[in-house]
Amino acid sequence: MSVEVRKLGEPILAEVAGVDVTKDISDDDWAAVHQAFLDNCVVVFRDQALTPDQMVRLANRFGPVEAHITSAKYKHPECDDLIIITNRNDKGEIDPFESARGGRWHTDMCYQEIPSKATMLHTLEIPDAGGDTIFANLYLALETMPASLRTRLEGLRATFRLGGNTGRGQGRADKERKNAPLVDHPILRAHTDTGRLSVFVNQVHTVGIVGMDHDEAQALLQEVYDWCERPEFQARHEWRMGDTVIWDNRCSIHRATGENPLRQTRRLMRATISDRPN
Ligand SMILES: [Fe+2]
Repeated sequence: MSVEVRKLGEPILAEVAGVDVTKDISDDDWAAVHQAFLDNCVVVFRDQALTPDQMVRLANRFGPVEAHITSAKYKHPECDDLIIITNRNDKGEIDPFESARGGRWHTDMCYQEIPSKATMLHTLEIPDAGGDTIFANLYLALETMPASLRTRLEGLRATFRLGGNTGRGQGRADKERKNAPLVDHPILRAHTDTGRLSVFVNQVHTVGIVGMDHDEAQALLQEVYDWCERPEFQARHEWRMGDTVIWDNRCSIHRATGENPLRQTRRLMRATISDRPN
């Protein structure tokens, strides 16, 4: 068996086949898998069910798994390194809030001092229709960005806070979140493995631009979002049972469609991979 990479979406997203991700991956195979991840930003391994331990082991090949800042209700019952993404509430009903989670374009955990490297999801239950995830390639967005916009971003740093641009809710968690310190990162940020620049702002967690008036910053950021969210940078992943998807948070944005016409359960295991050295 040798590692095979098949493009699924032209701008972003490839399937990696020919590797058994339930077992330890040989160094040669790992080199090919990791290169496919760097080249495509989002890769999927198909038709392989993972136990929590197997998922953590696979995630750890990409980097150290980090805890997600989230409430206890999302914790995986058997594994501290994983959380459960579900569209059902405690009573087992389809929950409109959970169903809409992740529905706006964002990057996971970009609001940390060291933004996360990658996020991995694995299917536990998926609906027969809907529930897709859409990704956009922000290397490509930057490479094709009009110079008139790009030159205005050079040298600027954006500020971030968890959900800082959503104004969501009034609960205790939201108050804690509003008081969390802002962190800042370059808007044109170099990828920590490839060194390539991509755009590193998003409409959920980016709050403003360092040293720029609020309204001016919002207007500029909106221009960036409008560019980066163009369809030509996107690919849609339609989930199948047995899928494990890993995406690179350093050069992409994503959103959940939240579509669930049959009102069925959607439940996935998630690991977040730190960009700290191993
Ligand atoms: Fe996300």
